[in-house]
Amino acid sequence: MSAILEIQHLTKTYDSGERHLTVLHDVNFTLQAGDTCSIVGPSGSGKTTLLGLCAGLDRASSGSVILNGVKLDNMSEDERAQVRNQFVGFVFQNFQLIPTLTALENVMVPLELRGERNVQKQAMDLLGRVGLAERADHYPTQLSGGEQQRVSIARAFSNRPTILFADEPTGNLDEETGTRVEQLLFDLNKEAGTTLVLVTHDLELAERTNRIIRIKGGHIVSDEATALIRN
Ligand SMILES: Nc1ncnc2c1ncn2[C@@H]1O[C@H](COP(=O)(O)OP(=O)(O)O)[C@@H](O)[C@H]1O
Ligand SMILES: [Mg+2]
Repeated sequence: MSAILEIQHLTKTYDSGERHLTVLHDVNFTLQAGDTCSIVGPSGSGKTTLLGLCAGLDRASSGSVILNGVKLDNMSEDERAQVRNQFVGFVFQNFQLIPTLTALENVMVPLELRGERNVQKQAMDLLGRVGLAERADHYPTQLSGGEQQRVSIARAFSNRPTILFADEPTGNLDEETGTRVEQLLFDLNKEAGTTLVLVTHDLELAERTNRIIRIKGGHIVSDEATALIRN
C-alpha cells in the first residue's frame, strides 16, 4: 500500500479585513491508494474547505498536503493546476459547469486539456453512463440541479483521476439517480482503483466507504474504519 494523500497539521484561516476566522485546526490523516473515505459533519464545520485543500484548489495557512507524493504547500496556482489535471477529479457542491458550453463540451474540456483523441466519443460515453446522453447539447441553465450534478460527475470521471473528491455528490439527486451515481463512484473505485473522498450528509452512503472522518468546528472528532461492506 502507498499513501495517496497525506494531511499533516493542516490549518486554514480566512482573513477579511481585521477579522481572522480559523476554520480548520491541526487536521491530520493519511489515505492509502484505493481507499474510500467519507467526511461528515454539520454545515459550516469546514468540510468543503478541507476537500478544496486536499485537492489543491486552495492553499492551507499552515501544515502540509502531500498528494500522490507531491507536496502542494509551496506550489503556485499554475503548478497546482497541473497536479490537478494529472490526477485529480473534483465534483463541486455547486457543480461549477462552464455556462457557455453544452453538457457534452463541459465533459470534453479535461480530455482536450490532456490532448486525448476521440474526445467527443469518450465524453458521450461518460454522459451515457450518468444517464444524460439525451441532454448532451443542453446548456447548464437548461438542466435541472440533479442533471448538472451528473454532468459534473461525468466531467470529473473524464480526467481518469487517481483520486476523486466529491462534495455532496448525491445531494441534489432523487433516490434512484442518487443510487445510480453512487454505484458509478464505487465502480470507478473497484475497476480503476480510484481513491474516493466524499463529503456527504447521507450516512448510508458514508457507511459504504471504508472510513468515516467526522469533523466539527474545524476539528477531526473521530476517524473510524467502517465494517467492511461489499460494494
Ligand atoms: N472564502 C471564504 N472566506 C471566508 N470564510 C469562509 C470562506 N469559505 C468558507 N468560509 C467559512 O468557513 C467555514 C467552513 O465552511 P465550509 O468549509 O464551506 O463548511 P461545510 O462545507 O462543512 O459546510 C464557514 O464558517 C464558512 O462561512
Ligand atoms: Mg460544504
